[in-house]
Amino acid sequence: MLQRFSCAEDYLEAHRQQTGQGPIDPVRVVRPFAIRRAVDWFHDNFDGQLIYALKANPSAYVISTLLTSNINRFDVASLKEIELVLDQAPEATLYYMNPVKSRAHIRAAYFQHGVRRFAVDHKDEVEKILKVTQGAKDLTLFVRLHCNDQGSVLPLGQKYGVQGPEALELLQMVRADAAKLGVTFHVGSQALVPGRFSQAMEHVAQLVRRAGVTAEILNVGGGFPSWYQEGERGDLTPYTQSINSALKDMPLVCDAEVYAEPGRALVAEAESLIVRVDARRGSELFINDGGYGILFDGAHSDWVFPTRLVGALPNADKLTPFSFWGPTCDAADHLKGPFYLPERVQEGDYLEIYKTGAYGWSMSSRFNGFGSYDMIELEDEGMHSNYLPASQSSQDLKIS
Ligand SMILES: Cc1ncc(COP(=O)(O)O)c(C=O)c1O
Repeated sequence: MLQRFSCAEDYLEAHRQQTGQGPIDPVRVVRPFAIRRAVDWFHDNFDGQLIYALKANPSAYVISTLLTSNINRFDVASLKEIELVLDQAPEATLYYMNPVKSRAHIRAAYFQHGVRRFAVDHKDEVEKILKVTQGAKDLTLFVRLHCNDQGSVLPLGQKYGVQGPEALELLQMVRADAAKLGVTFHVGSQALVPGRFSQAMEHVAQLVRRAGVTAEILNVGGGFPSWYQEGERGDLTPYTQSINSALKDMPLVCDAEVYAEPGRALVAEAESLIVRVDARRGSELFINDGGYGILFDGAHSDWVFPTRLVGALPNADKLTPFSFWGPTCDAADHLKGPFYLPERVQEGDYLEIYKTGAYGWSMSSRFNGFGSYDMIELEDEGMHSNYLPASQSSQDLKIS
């Protein structure tokens, strides 16, 4: 059970009282209510069911919060992810959606763990699965189809997704060999063009029609963004509208089960990170987490996470731009930002960096002996929720 505080200020105060100093390691702050809120939003706005893409954040609190929110379907990419979910949720339904899997992992998934749902994007993978499972008759195979992923920050189409005549052959092959045919695609992670979903769905419907098959399942994948930039106010409604309206126009899937497989959108707001400033050099701050830690995307994709100086009153200081160096000895451990903070920031201050719940913990490494985190739960609101009207969002921060 994690210790719970109302806000970062209360936590730091309690820590100082107990130990005589602030925390030395970075602190993962979790907000399970943000996961429940995201799930509720999808339930209200999306005409289908959710599968959670575990890769975005495989923490135990995420799995348990999802289970209590009635999400028990998980997209897994490896045997370790399968074991992780089943340890905590033996009744979960697993979707092994990595299009390329080792024979050993398919064998263990099918025979030891009862996994029956697999993604493929090549005939060799179908043959591999059939061979390893000894011609199983109870498989649901999802054909991962290539789609237009332009406008996404992290496109995946160069690596995965079958297209052209090969796609038609694969659909026919899977139809003949599997108990159920599913079709799936991924418009790219952090997809910034909502219409890519309906476009991909129309493309997929066309391929299914041309292949002369019917599919029992449509999985529109993940890609729903979170808005990271300070002051940016996102709205996911155009995304679900794009999907819902395309569904109405798709006779080939009108009887199909429909799923989306978000990762980021369900967990981005579920964590923030409290970091300590260990040195200041002009407008450069050396902090105790970075590009080899939870702030991976800040270094590798130039994400400018919303950030505040803990203890500062909102709008009380003039803000100036800073960049961050992470704690490892690598010069690539750099977040160029700009992160706007009060000019007076100095060594020993703490910053709260928001929206670190997706692909932060998953990507963090032990490089240079870093990567240890304390973990707490906070009750206050994070900044700029995708799921709240502007008036209820960031300004709710409780500052003591
Ligand atoms: C097969 C699959 N499904 C879902 C996701 C989740 O994507 P996102 O976190 O952008 O929603 C990914 C991410 O790489 C993926 O590869």
